[in-house]
Amino acid sequence: MLSIPPARPQFEEGTTLDRFLLETLRDHPEATGHFVTMINQVTLAAKLVSARVNRAGLAGMFGATGSMNIQGEYVQKMDVYANETFKRALEHAGVVCMIVSEEEEDIIPIPAPFIPGHYVFAMDPLDGSSNIDTNASIGTIFAVFRRQSTRGQGEPRDVLRCGRDMIAAGYIVYGAGTVLVLSTGQGVHAFTLDPSVGEFFLSHHDIRLKPETRSYSCNEAYSGTWDERLQTWLASTKDPAAGWSARYIGSLVGDFHRNLVKGGVFLYPPSKKSPSGKLRLLYEAFPLAFLAEQAGGAATDGHGPILDRTLASLHERTPLYIGNRATVTEITRLLSTTT
Ligand code: AHG
Ligand code: MN
Ligand code: MN
Repeated sequence: MLSIPPARPQFEEGTTLDRFLLETLRDHPEATGHFVTMINQVTLAAKLVSARVNRAGLAGMFGATGSMNIQGEYVQKMDVYANETFKRALEHAGVVCMIVSEEEEDIIPIPAPFIPGHYVFAMDPLDGSSNIDTNASIGTIFAVFRRQSTRGQGEPRDVLRCGRDMIAAGYIVYGAGTVLVLSTGQGVHAFTLDPSVGEFFLSHHDIRLKPETRSYSCNEAYSGTWDERLQTWLASTKDPAAGWSARYIGSLVGDFHRNLVKGGVFLYPPSKKSPSGKLRLLYEAFPLAFLAEQAGGAATDGHGPILDRTLASLHERTPLYIGNRATVTEITRLLSTTT
């Protein structure tokens, strides 16, 4: 008698990122070559930054450069290295028409003689830079749009877009291991770098945010100046019967990654210190909101979905509530009620 072999999973752990992209994007041949090239350049930069992060204490990469960025924050040596590395990796490949970076005030055009491509690449080259010297998780966050203009250098309208226009988003977390988390709108998948062979392999297929986990991440020291309704919600998590726990690294990418894998919610509300919120819409909130929704979660600014926002200026800030759908919805409902 013939026995029926068990169904093969569509993707096995250990599938390379390259193969995964080629197979999942098979139905979009017009985009595949350019998109895969762009992601390959992202992984090249990620490997370079990862290697430097691992050796930071030996390579003289701890500490600040002494200058401030346009957002009034001290620039760390690793911020500069990551920014330059991602720019260099992307600018010559003919796949992006512009880059926007947290570290640079203006749109970064593609310098001649390189050829501008189809995509807009927005990035926080090094997120969590206050944690570089502490060996805690840090990362690179990126959002990808398809350009609207048809030729030449990109224009502001290519990036001043609605969050729903994003075609892909992801981040690389440089933690105990280096992990690339990516979505092209078909679920969220994670690829772990095997440094011995220099390749990213699929390690988490179709990640779903666990709805039942009661874990929150926020800088609670600022909560005295938050909206009182949020303070009341936060106080309710202290009821031992409610079963909450708290985790905060102070590196958005590290906190988000933990919550994505284990379940949880991350909050960065407006405070007296940051009345519009601290996090940036384009290259922090947009890409992580894309990933959260793709993983079955939600992301809001306290009023409505982050992805429904349209970017008004490159470095615009936003409050952010992101993670498990039920908790994000509950907090948003609280903040939206008129008193
Ligand atoms: P960056 O290092 O890119 O400037 O981002 C820092 C952000 C983010 O990673 C983190 O969630 C937040 O700052 C932490 O802020 P607090 O120190 O105010 O908690
Ligand atoms: Mn950041
Ligand atoms: Mn940064």
